Amino acid sequence: MAHPDETPPAIGPGRTRQTEIYLRGLGGGLPKVPVAPAALEEAAGRAMTRNAFGYVAGGAGMERTMAANRAAFDRHAIVPRMLTDASRRDLSVTLFGRMHKLPFLLAPIGVLEMAHREAERAVARAARAEGVGMVFSNQASVAMEEVAGLLGDTPRWFQLYWSTDDELTRSLVGRAEAAGCEAIVLTLDTTILGWRPRDLDLASLPFLRGQGLAQYLTDPVFLKALPAKPPASPVKPSGLDLVTALIDLSSAARRFGLGLSAARAAVARFTAIYSRPDLVWDDVSRLKKMTRLPVVLKGIQSAADASEAVRRGVDGIVVSNHGGRQVDGAIGSLDALPAVVAAAGTTPVLFDSGVRSGADMFKALALGARAVLLGRPYVYGLAVAGQQGVAEVIRNMEAELDITMALTGCRTIADIAGAEMTGR
Ligand code: FNR
Ligand code: LAC
Repeated sequence: MAHPDETPPAIGPGRTRQTEIYLRGLGGGLPKVPVAPAALEEAAGRAMTRNAFGYVAGGAGMERTMAANRAAFDRHAIVPRMLTDASRRDLSVTLFGRMHKLPFLLAPIGVLEMAHREAERAVARAARAEGVGMVFSNQASVAMEEVAGLLGDTPRWFQLYWSTDDELTRSLVGRAEAAGCEAIVLTLDTTILGWRPRDLDLASLPFLRGQGLAQYLTDPVFLKALPAKPPASPVKPSGLDLVTALIDLSSAARRFGLGLSAARAAVARFTAIYSRPDLVWDDVSRLKKMTRLPVVLKGIQSAADASEAVRRGVDGIVVSNHGGRQVDGAIGSLDALPAVVAAAGTTPVLFDSGVRSGADMFKALALGARAVLLGRPYVYGLAVAGQQGVAEVIRNMEAELDITMALTGCRTIADIAGAEMTGR
C-alpha cells in the first residue's frame, strides 16, 4: 500500500484514454471512430463520396511511395529499455520559441470540405480542445482569418504555395502574419500536381468546382486581378455532370459572396497561377526577407537540399514526400529522415508521410525529428465524426505515444531522441 504522503503515480493521457474506452465498453459502447488505423481509413471510405475518398486516400502513380512510407516504418524497430521509471512523462516540445503541449501538429491538408461540411471549422475546434497546433493549408476550404478566430491561442502556422503572382504570395504571407501564424511553411514538392490515377479515373479535381479555394476567394489581391468576364470554358459539360459541377461552383460562389461568373473567373485564374514550377533557392531567400516569421521548407527529402536550406538561413525543414502524392517510387519518408537530420545540424527537422499511430510518431522522433505532422488520419476522423472525430484521433495518437514512452523508458521527447533503434 502506498504511504498516504506519497504522491500517487501519474496516470498520463495513455491510461486515461484506455480507461475511458474500456469503461464505456462495460455499458456496451464502442468507439465511433475506430482506433485501428486500417479500420479508421475504411470507416472514412464509407463516410465519404467516391471522389472525396479517392482524392484524400490516393497517391501518385502505382502508390509505391505510399507503400515505401509504410515499409520504412516497418523496417525501423524500437528497442525498449526496462527499469528506468518513466512513470511521469512530459510530451511537450518547444518549436520556434513556443511550447507545444504535444510533439505533433495537424498537417496542412487542402479541400477539407470533401471530408466534412464543417471542414477547418471542425478541425480548429478539435485542435483547440486538445491543444494541438494546426498548419493552415493554402488550399483550405475556410479562410485562415476565420479559422484563426476559432483557435484562441492555439498555435497555427501557414502553408504557402508560391503562385506565379508574387503580389498574391506577399498578400497571403501578410494575412498569415496578421492571423497570428507563427511560421510560414513553404511547400516545395507540389509545383505541379502529381500524376494521380485515382483522381484521373474519376476525372475529378476539386479546385475546378471551386473547392479548396477559400484563401484565394477571400484575398484582395486575387479578387482584384479577376477579369470582369470569365474566359469561355474550354469544355461544354452536359447532363448530370453539368448540374453537379454548377451546384458545387454556385455553392462556392454563395459562400464567398461572389456571382457565378466571378466564381468561374476565379477558378480560371487559380488554374492559371497555381503554382510556380520555376521556383528556385533565391526565392527562398526572398521569402525570408518578405516575412518576420520563421520560414520552414516542406518536402525536403535529400541531405543536399537540407544543407542548402541551412546555408540559406531557413528556420526549419519538414521531411515529407507529401504522403506519396507527388512522385511515384520516391524514397520512403522515414528512410530520408536520418540523413536530412544529420545535414540540418541545429536547424529543427519535422517529419510527415505515413504516420498512422503514436508508435510511428515515436520512431520519427527517435530518428531525429523534433516534431511530427499528422496527415490523413485526422481527415479520416473528420469524415467519420466531424469535430469529435478529429479530437478522438488526436487523443488516440497522444495516448499511444504516451504509452510507448512509458514502456520504453522515455520521460520526455528529448529522451526519445536518444532511444535505441534498429533498422536501416
Ligand atoms: C495533402 N498535403 C498537403 N500539403 C501541403 O503542403 N498543402 C496542401 O494543401 C496539402 N493538401 C493535401 C491534401 C490531401 C488530401 C492530403 C492527403 C495531403 C500533404 C500533407 O501536408 C502531408 O504531407 C501528408 O498528408 C503526409 O502524408 P500522410 O501521413 O497523410 O500519408
Ligand atoms: C494535394 C495538394 C493540394 O496534395 O497539396 O492535393
